[in-house]
Amino acid sequence: MAPMTINVNEANLVFHLQTDHTSYIFRIMENGEAGQIYYGQKIHVQPNYKNLTSREWRDDNPSLSEEDPNFQPPAIKSEYASLGKGDFRYPAFQVTQENGSRITELTYDHYQLLNGKSRLADLPSTFDDANDDAQTLVLSFKDQITGLTLELNYSIFPHQDVIVKSAKFTNPSSEKLVLNRALSSQLDLPDSNYDLIQFSGTWARERHLYRNQLRPGIQSISSLRTSSSHQQNPFMMLARPQTTDEQGDVFGFNLVYSGNFLDSVEVDQYDTSRILTGINPDEFGWNLAPQTSFQTPEAILSYTTEGMNQLSQQMADFYSQHLVNPRFTHEDRPILINNWEATYFDFNEAKLMTIVNQAHQLGIEMFVLDDGWFGHRDDDTTSLGDWFVDKKKFPNGIEHFSQQVHDLGMKFGLWFEPEMISIDSDLYQKHPEWMIHDPKSTPTPGRHQFVLDMTRPEVIDYLYDLMSHMIESANLDYIKWDMNRHITEMFSSELTSDQQLEMPHRYILGVYQLYDRLTKAYPNVLFESCASGGGRFDLGLMYYAPQAWTSDDTDAAERMLIQFGTSYGYPQSMMGTHVSAVPNDQMGRITSLKTRGAVAFFGDFGYELDITKMAPEELDQIKDQVAFYKQYRHLFQFGKFYRIDSPFVGSGNVISWQVVSDDRKQAIAARYQLLNHPNAPYTRFYFKGLDPNQQYQINDDAETYYGDELMNAGYFVPTILADGKESKDFYSQLFVAKAV
Ligand code: GLA
Repeated sequence: MAPMTINVNEANLVFHLQTDHTSYIFRIMENGEAGQIYYGQKIHVQPNYKNLTSREWRDDNPSLSEEDPNFQPPAIKSEYASLGKGDFRYPAFQVTQENGSRITELTYDHYQLLNGKSRLADLPSTFDDANDDAQTLVLSFKDQITGLTLELNYSIFPHQDVIVKSAKFTNPSSEKLVLNRALSSQLDLPDSNYDLIQFSGTWARERHLYRNQLRPGIQSISSLRTSSSHQQNPFMMLARPQTTDEQGDVFGFNLVYSGNFLDSVEVDQYDTSRILTGINPDEFGWNLAPQTSFQTPEAILSYTTEGMNQLSQQMADFYSQHLVNPRFTHEDRPILINNWEATYFDFNEAKLMTIVNQAHQLGIEMFVLDDGWFGHRDDDTTSLGDWFVDKKKFPNGIEHFSQQVHDLGMKFGLWFEPEMISIDSDLYQKHPEWMIHDPKSTPTPGRHQFVLDMTRPEVIDYLYDLMSHMIESANLDYIKWDMNRHITEMFSSELTSDQQLEMPHRYILGVYQLYDRLTKAYPNVLFESCASGGGRFDLGLMYYAPQAWTSDDTDAAERMLIQFGTSYGYPQSMMGTHVSAVPNDQMGRITSLKTRGAVAFFGDFGYELDITKMAPEELDQIKDQVAFYKQYRHLFQFGKFYRIDSPFVGSGNVISWQVVSDDRKQAIAARYQLLNHPNAPYTRFYFKGLDPNQQYQINDDAETYYGDELMNAGYFVPTILADGKESKDFYSQLFVAKAV
């Protein structure tokens, strides 16, 4: 019998949701709406929380009750607020009735407690397949005006201190209703003494950390690109000003969604912070026709008092158990070589086979054939949509090429950009209407290409047929699913005029549907998502594609920042990390092969350069890197990740992080230095997460050290970094700690 994690006080209608270390409490108020009471460190279950629900009169506010004039909406912390009944903050939802009114009066109807957590129907979602004590509470509300019903879903995952929330609207009436906004989660916190920590950037510079104190008014991150985007990631944190990676209170918020999103924090007149996360209400409108429902994506909330490393670790653990395709949860990911930066579009089977053979000798496990294998795609102006092989490059078909790769005992992967169409393609000749465009407007190209209307079932069928044909005929082990532009002229001639605002969400549902069909039909194919690098690095896609290409920027120094930032919200096993050539194609920077390896080790490792052009010493080095990675692969991909020296704090010149095995018998720390400076101070490196009573050997040191010494007193880092032989700019050191 699972321990009670959801406590309901029937008499007072108080709901207290407990995880191992947190409490989330709310109640039904006298007007039938749900009022938020507390979210934070675990506290005792009580029949009510009078102290926390005390009210005081504040001037200049409407009142909801004659008996209790202090019941004033602007001063109330609510669970899922409407607009129009006196709470003037931005609401969680809004519905328009046939007469144009947007006023609703949703009141509590009943609740339901369920064991476990089931998946959502058309959206990626969390689950509890392994019966890890999850429990679900469904609270139902009914609108006194329209009859509309609202279900607020709360699922508790006690051991990872995670709460998953979503909302579902159903229209049982005969009236046509329109949802103007339907966020996934609202959380009203009682004060605003927090820093908002977000992960922003652009192409090739994804997920850099920005930390700012909350201020009165709305602050938000969002996307209108029909994609979670390079520019803003849906993951954000609210941390007390003193909180660091090591200690302090912090909330994490994320969304299991890949389309237009909004994460907003509104600090109101009484310093309450309202956090809303969900589908961006801009460019959204959903017809809730009679007898239909609308389910929002799921929002993830997590909390700890123990700093941001702990938050990242508990969320990473949660995703691996309750979100990622279970087929791949604990599966070591293959070391791959991808031909993109090696050849770009200039290749044929013979050229690729020289790379494959070389890779095989070096111990690399998978070859990924990137863009350019289909149609007549010799540059990026043509052929998207024509997912059949270019016979000029592969006279005997991809099957033959794939067979040769497989014959060497290697795996074989293929690149697709399913959602796209080139004007110069057979597909466009046949189905120009499948391209997203507004017939009255000039289509705006992006990378010379356009986007397919993924709201059309026939488009999904077409892509499914061609992709499954390739999967079967070429015996694919892996697919890299790319998406290289954002949508303009968002309009579908398939949809009615009043459905056009449904299109951004319907588009994403189409993407999910194709992913769902393919992953169900081919459960052993490993999918890696990609969007010009890390432009769709989100939990929605993580559900289908356990790994993602982190960034098109493969420069080691830039990757230190990108991977450091990404690690706050996502585990290393999700990050594709490759060694590429120097001078680096994006930055022109030269870094050593050693440093490129030492950065790429901390993720799903691979190579992305022409290994047939490398000197024998470099090939030896690659062989060593591959062997080293294989030895510690599980630790690199699935070990507990600790950030130690941040590039986003202080000078940022030294960056370090570390992974530790579950049994704490192995750990690997990396210390990177951007620029070398002369006559350095004596330096110690402080390990994290070791067993204090265990003795460890570091690299090949003859001596051993207790974990407590390595963590508290540190490990001497040699910094005589000017022996004249090797540049100590962009320098890396790895410390492998092994229990003895
Ligand atoms: C995107 C990807 C790259 C590569 C190219 C191919 O930019 O991020 O890794 O696949 O497309 O066109």
